[in-house]
Amino acid sequence: MARLKVGVLISGSGTNLQALIDNCARADAESEIALVLSNRADAYGVTRAERGGLPHGVIDHRGYDSRAAFEQALSETLESSGVELVCLAGFMRVLTAEFVEHWRDRLINIHPSLLPAFKGLNTHARAIEAGVRFAGCTVHFVRPEVDNGPIIVQAAVPVLDDDTAGTLAARVLREEHRCLPLAVRLIAQGRVSVVGERCVIDAVAPGGALINPTPGPQEKGPEPCGSGPLVTGVGRR
Ligand code: GAR
Repeated sequence: MARLKVGVLISGSGTNLQALIDNCARADAESEIALVLSNRADAYGVTRAERGGLPHGVIDHRGYDSRAAFEQALSETLESSGVELVCLAGFMRVLTAEFVEHWRDRLINIHPSLLPAFKGLNTHARAIEAGVRFAGCTVHFVRPEVDNGPIIVQAAVPVLDDDTAGTLAARVLREEHRCLPLAVRLIAQGRVSVVGERCVIDAVAPGGALINPTPGPQEKGPEPCGSGPLVTGVGRR
C-alpha cells in the first residue's frame, strides 16, 4: 500500500518531528515525511530534517505582507510535494480559517494539555496553578478556533506536588512523542473518521487511542496515608 505523504510544520526544536522521523523509519511504516517546513530558519528542527535526509524548507512569515499570503505559500509548497496530511508539530503561528478549511480533516495539531482544558500558551504553569491532578497532551484535527477540533489521541500524566512548569513539560513531552506518531499511524491505516465533531477510531482495542502511563520510580508522589493501597487511576502505589 502507498505510504501516506505527511508534511510537518515546525517553529522550534522539533522533538515531535524527530518522533515522526523515527516512526517513519520503521520498515512497516504506513507514512512518509514528504516535506518539513519551518517558519524560522534557526529552528533546530530544520537541522533534524537535514540530518534525516528529508525534503525541507523555510518559509519565513516575516517575508509576507499578510497572513493569507504566507499561508498561500505554505499550501502551494505542501501541495507541490504531494502532501496528504499536514502535522503542526510545535508550529507557533495562528492559522486563518481559510487555511484550516482548505486542509479540513487533513490537518492535525499536537497541543501540550488535555484539551479542552488549557488552550493557548503556558499550559503547564496554568495546570499547576489550577491544581489539577492530571495533565497531558492532545492530538486533534484543527478547526478555525485555536486549539479546538475533534480529538484523535490523548495521553494523561500525573501532576506531582513538587512539579514546576519545566518538570511537568518534560513529562508531557515524552508522551507527545508517543501520541503524535500514534495519531499519524491511525490516520494512515484509515482507522480515523470524524463523525459530527468527534473522532471514531475503528478496530482498535479499548484504550487504543488513550495513553495513560504510570509514573516512573523517580516521579512517584508521596506515600498514601492510611493502610490500604491507593488507587489513583495512574496505577497502584
Ligand atoms: C510541544 O510541546 C508542542 O506540544 C507545543 O510546542 C512544543 C514543540 O516542541 N505546541 C504548542 O504549544 C502549540 N499550541 P518540539 O519543537 O520539540 O516538538
